[in-house]
Amino acid sequence: MAANALNLCSFFIFAFLIINGAKTKPTVGIFPPSCNRIECPKFEVIEANNGYEIRSYDSPMWMSTAPIDDISLVNATRAGFLQLFDYIQGKNKYHQKIEMTAPVLTQVSPSDGPFCATSFVVSFYIPKENQGNPPAAQGLHVQKWGKTLAAVRQFSGFVKDYDVAEETAALYASLEGSKWFDAIRKAPTADPTTTYTVAQYNSPFEFDNRVNEIWLLLDVKDYFGM
Ligand SMILES: *[C@@H]1O[C@H](CO)[C@@H](O)[C@H](O)[C@H]1NC(C)=O
Repeated sequence: MAANALNLCSFFIFAFLIINGAKTKPTVGIFPPSCNRIECPKFEVIEANNGYEIRSYDSPMWMSTAPIDDISLVNATRAGFLQLFDYIQGKNKYHQKIEMTAPVLTQVSPSDGPFCATSFVVSFYIPKENQGNPPAAQGLHVQKWGKTLAAVRQFSGFVKDYDVAEETAALYASLEGSKWFDAIRKAPTADPTTTYTVAQYNSPFEFDNRVNEIWLLLDVKDYFGM
């Protein structure tokens, strides 16, 4: 019964994505201005195309919240970010302050709970300097991704719940027919349960030049020969 309900939720979400898929304009290739000021994970662009970019990340590490069940990505991200902000301000085992980085990720997956709620994990990119020994903190855990391939689409402005569905659908649509499309469907090594990830590069106090991204992680086995 629970499994059926979950499938039904997923079906409606997916149908919604397909129907609304083709509307928005593709954007890729914008360097987030905040990455000139604060540390961002390095990546290589493997392919830039009409509406998507394929990036290779070399083993980024993240400090992540426990899953947050909510109907709103925006609200869940705010709640998660507050925990992570406390963490970098020194609310951690070593009372250590950690430099701000970008992006903040929100990993989205279907929730086990009732009512078609969604499960969100919010993450902070751990600076290279702290990756050897990131201080622990209650309620947070480290994610080590290993080599990661992501299909990426960019959009601007403040992230809204509605945009996220639309931009994700557009990213799927742009990948259709490409050699990457099958790799999305296979479970990615980094995180088998995440459906898609939203990356945000700006603080809530910046109003211009805001850069956000949808990431779909790809199965890397074929590409890296793993
Ligand atoms: C998000 O949070 C705001 C402020 O707490 C609230 O008014 C709003 O209803 C929430 N949105 C959703 C979709 O839950």
